[in-house]
Amino acid sequence: MDKLIIRGGVSLRGEVEVSGAKNAALPAMAACLLTDAPISLQRVPRLGDVRTIVALLSYLGVKAEVTQEALTLCAAGVGQFEAPYRLVKTMRASVLVLGPLVARFGRARVSLPGGCAIGPRPINLHLAGLEKMGAEISLDGGYVEAKASRLKGARIAFDVQTVTGTENLMMAASLADGVTVLENAACEPEVTDLAVLLNRMGARIEGAGTSTITVEGVESLQGALHEVIPDRVETGTFMVAAAITGGDVTITGCLPRHLEAVSNKLHEAGIGVEEGDRSLRVWADGPVRGVNVRTHPYPGFATDMQAQVMALMVTAEGTSVITETVFDSRFMHVNELLRMGANIRVVGNAAFVQGVPRLLGAPVMATDLRASASLILAGLAASGVTTVSRVYHLDRGYEALDEKLLGLGANIERVAE
Ligand code: EPU
Repeated sequence: MDKLIIRGGVSLRGEVEVSGAKNAALPAMAACLLTDAPISLQRVPRLGDVRTIVALLSYLGVKAEVTQEALTLCAAGVGQFEAPYRLVKTMRASVLVLGPLVARFGRARVSLPGGCAIGPRPINLHLAGLEKMGAEISLDGGYVEAKASRLKGARIAFDVQTVTGTENLMMAASLADGVTVLENAACEPEVTDLAVLLNRMGARIEGAGTSTITVEGVESLQGALHEVIPDRVETGTFMVAAAITGGDVTITGCLPRHLEAVSNKLHEAGIGVEEGDRSLRVWADGPVRGVNVRTHPYPGFATDMQAQVMALMVTAEGTSVITETVFDSRFMHVNELLRMGANIRVVGNAAFVQGVPRLLGAPVMATDLRASASLILAGLAASGVTTVSRVYHLDRGYEALDEKLLGLGANIERVAE
């Protein structure tokens, strides 16, 4: 197990390139199960969750080939239809194989994910949608079993917007008999990116990126080549890294239009943000003002950026209220930030952050992916040494974050614990 040792107080400067989006790569990889032809994906980030889904797909019988240019997946030889507990428990997104397996093979057995560090995270809406499409769903030994001779198009209205739920049903509907309409669908760019890939594979999907998605099912899908969109959460994390260290950083290979909510908040806090075509320059040359943040599904402020922006607010002027509306308990970073001298009070789903002049380095422990990023950001701004342990959470979802920060001048070192 590795830990990161950070000596804070260095202003980050220079240029950094973002990787492909984890949350776009994972569903794109699951989509390979919909066809027996190869799917080649470019810009797949090298990180823990991608390795986990490769392990899961390989277990199902998918052949994976990695070259410098692309990851190619071929599901011609699938002979297993089960996502085992050991893989689902390490990565909840494993549930993304459910829709494609039932749609193409008529059967799937997927371990129920259970709780996770950021709340209960049920998959009832994925299951209700498949049931509406004619699948027979049963529960046995902690596993969900879904069976259907061929799924049928249906009108499905989600109670709440769900990203992987929308993705699972969009994939399932691509091979269903008839038209499926998904209402109150998630509008995240990762959903749109999946629709682009599926349409390249021959699917007929309209409306992705809006809350109503229409899918006209087809008999079969073909192979495709697709480049995964840039990671907007990694981009946002570097934006905060520049702001929190009083630095000046240009982030390249990103899509600024996916980060408008973050850019607007940083701007409101007094941070300089300049948008290029596929780049963002972020700098801080004065005091940071406390601002209120409320998480929302896209295009609102992403819950995946809440922990990072809280790190920034901890040393901002005045008070800020950070409200988490997407997940039940996504404030695990708070107690660790308190150990670094932050002044935060949590009441229900709101964190009241009173800015302090400076953070003090301390040993802290990461409990989930974005919480890890938040603690690293705090460490970059703190005086003295911060040791962030359990960095495997970070390595699940960021490609070489510490190396990229090193390239921007941070004093950060990875050591084996
Ligand atoms: N929900 C239900 N029932 C369901 C599905 C979801 O009640 O069947 C609820 C959840 O409990 C939550 C809300 O709906 O309160 C939204 O959850 P959603 O299903 O959208 O989350 P997800 O699909 O499990 C994806 C990302 C998360 C990101 C959320 C929200 C992937 C692989 N994961 O999760 O990413 O936080 O959407 O944007 O795309 C991360 O990258 O760190 C991460 C956690």
